[in-house]
Amino acid sequence: MTVLVFLDPAHPDGRIADAGVPALLATDQGVTRGDGIFETLLAVNGAPRKVQAHLGRLAASAQSLSLDVPGEEAWLRAIATAVGAFASASPPAPDEDGNTNVVVKLIATRGPEGAGSPTSWVQATAVPPALAEQRAHGLAVILLDRGYDSTVAQRAPWLLLGAKTLSYAVNMAALRHAHAQGADDVIFTSSDGHVLEGPTSSVLLAHLKDDGGAPVKRLITPSLDSGILPGTTQGALFTAAKAAGWELGYGPLVPADLLDADAVWLVSSIRLLAPVNSIDGTEIGTAEVRARLTAELSALLAQTH
Ligand SMILES: Cc1ncc(COP(=O)(O)O)c(C=O)c1O
Repeated sequence: MTVLVFLDPAHPDGRIADAGVPALLATDQGVTRGDGIFETLLAVNGAPRKVQAHLGRLAASAQSLSLDVPGEEAWLRAIATAVGAFASASPPAPDEDGNTNVVVKLIATRGPEGAGSPTSWVQATAVPPALAEQRAHGLAVILLDRGYDSTVAQRAPWLLLGAKTLSYAVNMAALRHAHAQGADDVIFTSSDGHVLEGPTSSVLLAHLKDDGGAPVKRLITPSLDSGILPGTTQGALFTAAKAAGWELGYGPLVPADLLDADAVWLVSSIRLLAPVNSIDGTEIGTAEVRARLTAELSALLAQTH
């Protein structure tokens, strides 16, 4: 079940379209060139989570691509229409905490050749059941070289490395490569050996220290200037973890930091926190610590908005 709502000046709350009927021109540059941007967020009990962070990142992506997308009000109205229509057409079953969840995708393309205006829409769908499995059972991950060094984002902004563009064919190819090797997911590294991100996730790691004094819990993520997407989940979790007494740290990180960690996660808005069981076959921490820290941080993330 997919609900589509197009942003359309003639329809202030958005125009609902039948997802089973073609709705884009074949000349739309989102299709012919992958030229466009998107956001994926979770609506919980009808309310979109971290919506300002997602709209802020959408605006930043639009600026990187010089794309003139509709303003926040139009997106918020279309999101409300899509989530409401999805809930009436296909009420989601409550999750283990009694909440109902809907995946909301915001998409804006450069529009048809020559039209000069973007095509923008919101899509509402169900949460894939595999994600709860990943949270519960964890992931086998492989490291893959992304082929760029960690300073390329500043040197070559036209690579759009920090923008959430529709050109995800490379990310999907990396995931297929991992699946063909029997792994579940990927952590990209730069050509100069820094840890970056997953194809659809940010990387977090925890280091626990207990050297006789008060135990220290440190949550670390790769530096945001290394050509990675600034994750809204990582951002929200860092704020919540800091308030709960965690120390925060930012890379540069190398693969040895991951292998030494007490726990590593791939995090994103729909998957939330999925613990990494192993990287290139080496176990990360212990099952007991991974499960305990995943539960602690998942509870913190659930309190964020
Ligand atoms: C490349 C990449 N990095 C990080 C993320 C995590 O971002 P967020 O936490 O905002 O969902 C995503 C999400 O899809 C992504 O595609």
